[in-house]
Amino acid sequence: MNVKVEIADRIYWLGTNDRRKELFENLWPLPNGVSYNSYLIADEKTALVDTIEMGTGGDYVGWIGRLLEEQGKQQLDYLIINHMEPDHSGEIGDIVRRWPTVKIVGNGKTFKILEGYYGITENLIEVKDDDTLELGHHRLKFVMTPWVHWPETMMTYDTTEGVLFSGDAFGTFGTLDGAVFDDEIADFEGRYLGEMRRYYSNIVGKYSNMVQKAFAKLAGIDIRTVCPLHGPVWRSEPQKVIGLYDRWSRCEAEAGVVIVYGSMYGNTAAAADYIARRCAEEGIREIRVRDASKTHLSYLIDDVWRYRGVILGSCAYNTQMFPTVERLTTELLHMGVKNKVLGLFGSYSWNGGGVKNLKVFAESIGWPLVAEPADLFGTPTPEKLACCDAIARGMAQALK
Ligand code: FEO
Repeated sequence: MNVKVEIADRIYWLGTNDRRKELFENLWPLPNGVSYNSYLIADEKTALVDTIEMGTGGDYVGWIGRLLEEQGKQQLDYLIINHMEPDHSGEIGDIVRRWPTVKIVGNGKTFKILEGYYGITENLIEVKDDDTLELGHHRLKFVMTPWVHWPETMMTYDTTEGVLFSGDAFGTFGTLDGAVFDDEIADFEGRYLGEMRRYYSNIVGKYSNMVQKAFAKLAGIDIRTVCPLHGPVWRSEPQKVIGLYDRWSRCEAEAGVVIVYGSMYGNTAAAADYIARRCAEEGIREIRVRDASKTHLSYLIDDVWRYRGVILGSCAYNTQMFPTVERLTTELLHMGVKNKVLGLFGSYSWNGGGVKNLKVFAESIGWPLVAEPADLFGTPTPEKLACCDAIARGMAQALK
């Protein structure tokens, strides 16, 4: 971006916005783009904290050089790598070519991936929990936070200014459209909250227990500013974003229900609408109905993360679950999502398979069923649909 944004005394934001990429990790939709943040500390010794995705930052290296020159510096002394995923490590090669003597700070797992990606094996400083690095005014302390979101991930805490460089943690999808800081955003809830939860559930959610372990390590640290690798810098309300991540990583959910169905000719869809109406009559006020063939998996996962109640419906398809619903269940099993209550329904024309396999999923993931599954034969007449009433009733009871 080539602008000077000072976060704290001689700490600068070096971020870029990616509005071209359609899919994050070539998987998750980016309707509002994504930002990649890195940070420069121009103290007596100089340090760059993470880089950005290659090719997204224009003259990124030149930008760093100019910021250093403004501070009367020529040399970049340290490159601190909190996370090696290429959306943050992509410019490491250019940095090392521009400042060949730069010392690279990471942990043992960082360096293994660093060699694998970029063939770099020299000028490495390995750090462990609580190790420190003196830059002059700034004193950095390292916190190992494995699996938030890769095995090598760590955080860097500036003990002088209370700035936490948090890696992927506390990040979000969505570009920074001029507003870099949380207090510059007029409507965080409308603009970022949903995208932040989708980012959490899609990218980090699988490692929620490791997020909680990271929280335990951060307990008692005076965090005045949170600098994530994606999304706004939190200088006014750092506890707000910390609280959101804490809640999501404890799998706390809203008292609502998402009904996701797969339907070939509308019979299972009709049952979904019937159950949704019955849920409303039972007093549930947050209800989402999603056609798994229409709504991207990314948003389905987000809905499941958001609501405590999950009702899954599948027609039989070649004696199996409908493929789009099966894909969701597979992903939920991989993620090990917890603290949900479950309802199941479906339809069939000959010997079934949708509900039968949904039951296998229920046993595997261990979410309690709110009622007996409903498997409808043929057209869902009012008489047949009545067996779905117990699902709505049971869900309302479970959500109380
Ligand atoms: Fe934003 Fe795990 O990379």
